[in-house]
Amino acid sequence: MAERVEVLLSEEEVDSRIRKLGEQISKDYAGKNVHLICILKGASFFMCELAKRITVPVSIDFMSLSSYGSDTQSSGEVKIKKDLEESLENKYVIVVEDIVDTGRTLKYLKELLKDRGAADVKLCALLDKPERRVVDIEADYIGFSIPDEFVVGYGLDYAQRYRNLPYIGAVKFD
Ligand code: IMP
Ligand code: MG
Repeated sequence: MAERVEVLLSEEEVDSRIRKLGEQISKDYAGKNVHLICILKGASFFMCELAKRITVPVSIDFMSLSSYGSDTQSSGEVKIKKDLEESLENKYVIVVEDIVDTGRTLKYLKELLKDRGAADVKLCALLDKPERRVVDIEADYIGFSIPDEFVVGYGLDYAQRYRNLPYIGAVKFD
């Protein structure tokens, strides 16, 4: 293993930003219920922390999408590996994702979930790499905009490792 991980965003920075996102969502959805859809596996740590900071009623569901291989490039093809359990009919959905990279995953999901009858579909991502975008999509809520570096921790992996780091780290291959 030649790679090492450098801290990019500390545990304190990430936790305090998630708290703020929770406050913002609670304000924006005052008087409504929010239905959080966690994109497995990467967004699971983020969704738990975010859900705890939302003060309007919350329900949750999980979905898993394909990301081929275990390298640091996404393949461009999106497939459902595990589908939702709850109906979306008339729900105020927020898709919770770890990172927006090319944007293909979120674009695909936004269209799919709207077609399934959600009242509204918003996107919330802990991280955004705007330089990498190949399709036109923006998240409605973003934790941090970061440079084009491969990152791990807080749910994000490199070949299934490092998800349990309590901070966001940049992987250095040297
Ligand atoms: P997109 O469809 O290209 O936006 O892909 C997003 C998915 O690629 C994310 O949900 C992550 O699973 C994965 N991904 C993209 N960039 C990184 C990264 O820097 N570290 C770990 N996973 C990443
Ligand atoms: Mg992912």
